[in-house]
Amino acid sequence: MNSLAGKLALVTGAGRGIGRAIALDLARAGADVVVNYNRSREQAEEVARQIESMGRRAAAIQADVAKKADIDRMFDAAEASSGPVNILVNNAGIEPRADVCDFDEATYDAVMATNLKGAFFCAQRALRKMRDAGWGRVINVSSLHELTPTGFSALYGMSKGGMALMMREMAKSYSRHGITINNVCPGATRTDINRKVLADPAYEAKVIEKIPAGFIAEPEDIAPTVTFLASDAARYITGTSIFIDGGLWL
Ligand SMILES: NC(=O)c1ccc[n+]([C@@H]2O[C@H](COP(=O)([O-])OP(=O)(O)OC[C@H]3O[C@@H](n4cnc5c(N)ncnc54)[C@H](OP(=O)(O)O)[C@@H]3O)[C@@H](O)[C@H]2O)c1
Repeated sequence: MNSLAGKLALVTGAGRGIGRAIALDLARAGADVVVNYNRSREQAEEVARQIESMGRRAAAIQADVAKKADIDRMFDAAEASSGPVNILVNNAGIEPRADVCDFDEATYDAVMATNLKGAFFCAQRALRKMRDAGWGRVINVSSLHELTPTGFSALYGMSKGGMALMMREMAKSYSRHGITINNVCPGATRTDINRKVLADPAYEAKVIEKIPAGFIAEPEDIAPTVTFLASDAARYITGTSIFIDGGLWL
């Protein structure tokens, strides 16, 4: 079903992990996709090639979402070549782990700038055009930890908690314009973000034990919910967070 045919999606951090799976799933549903990356150029170009091989248009565009100037450059380039972004997926994120008392200022700034400020300014750029068009989708890849503390990365939890209120603020102000704004909240999902910690079998077993579904998700378990939220079938869902966590929050 090509429910997203004719729509342009922009997915931040789409060269690998959850962002990659989302970009490919949106393309499968018919969308053209801007594949944003910061450092993973080759992987992002490979994702763009895969999308083109499905018959869609794709462009890999570098931008560090922690920098507003980069965000503006990315949106300028995307709009010039493909028109306004109809579906924005704010996926880029980092999760440095440390004790509360050990985080330094640079790490604080990097987490907030990447996870929260970047999502805000990407949404701001996209919402202006979506409001003019009377249709749009903003989907933030938040986390189970927008609701529950991590115990291993206070900064990460704080940034995702901010993302929950950011989403609701935007949904309250902008849903009147045919725009829906929601968060998807993955639980433990196998990507580079947790590859190191999950490589320890004892740690992995402890994580799995806490998940009622009994296993750790793959990025492909997250992506279809984003595609659904982007579709017209989800036009009445706005201002909410959908947990895709195997029941981990329970
Ligand atoms: N995996 C999980 O268990 C889990 C659970 C809950 C939520 N999440 C969320 O899912 C999202 C994706 O994470 P992931 O698990 O797929 O991790 P990942 O494999 O480590 O991927 C992180 C992605 O973010 C991008 N990124 C990081 N800093 C960036 C920046 N300054 N500008 C642009 N892109 C940047 C990276 O791009 P480059 O490689 O190009 O630098 C990469 O594509 C994050 O928001 C994360 O918080 C993950």
